[in-house]
Amino acid sequence: MLVSVETQDSLVTLLGMLRTRLEGLLADNGIAFDWQIGEEPRAPFSRPSPNLHLARIVQEAITNVIKHADATTITVAANDHSITIADNGRGISSAALDGRGGGHGITGIRRRSARIGAEFGIGRTDTGTIVTLAFNMDAPAGSPDPALSYSSAQGPC
Ligand SMILES: Nc1ncnc2c1ncn2[C@@H]1O[C@H](COP(=O)(O)OP(=O)(O)O)[C@@H](O)[C@H]1O
Ligand SMILES: [Mg+2]
Repeated sequence: MLVSVETQDSLVTLLGMLRTRLEGLLADNGIAFDWQIGEEPRAPFSRPSPNLHLARIVQEAITNVIKHADATTITVAANDHSITIADNGRGISSAALDGRGGGHGITGIRRRSARIGAEFGIGRTDTGTIVTLAFNMDAPAGSPDPALSYSSAQGPC
């Protein structure tokens, strides 16, 4: 779906492309975008570019809202140390939070987050579900943690 992503683009540009691409789909599903992109988020690991991973993560989180949340609003917010995707839907179930959801999307998000040094979180709020990617700005810039075992094979998300 995100075939035209260029890894050297700024993340804000990538998120904007994603917004343009998904806006129609969200409108068809009766969901409004609340877009709050401020500072350019910076992942601690810059090589290879984290942007493709970040764009895929955001795309999967938005797709999950469309598929599962029954929401009317999705809020995408970013600053220099985090990205959040929140919805006002039914809220993720305990079973799904425990990894018994059956799909591979969240597994893929976890894998990609580890790859770029982002801390991934997902949980229920009073009003829906929130996905958080937090970047530890104290981490040294450079390559991913070599201790991470990561397959270069791309998953489904
Ligand atoms: N925003 C959301 N609102 C409600 N439930 C969600 C949301 N995101 C994920 N889920 C739940 O988590 C499960 C696992 O998601 P995922 O791993 O992406 O698999 P899939 O989308 O293929 O079902 C979903 O099946 C759904 O039950
Ligand atoms: Mg999914």
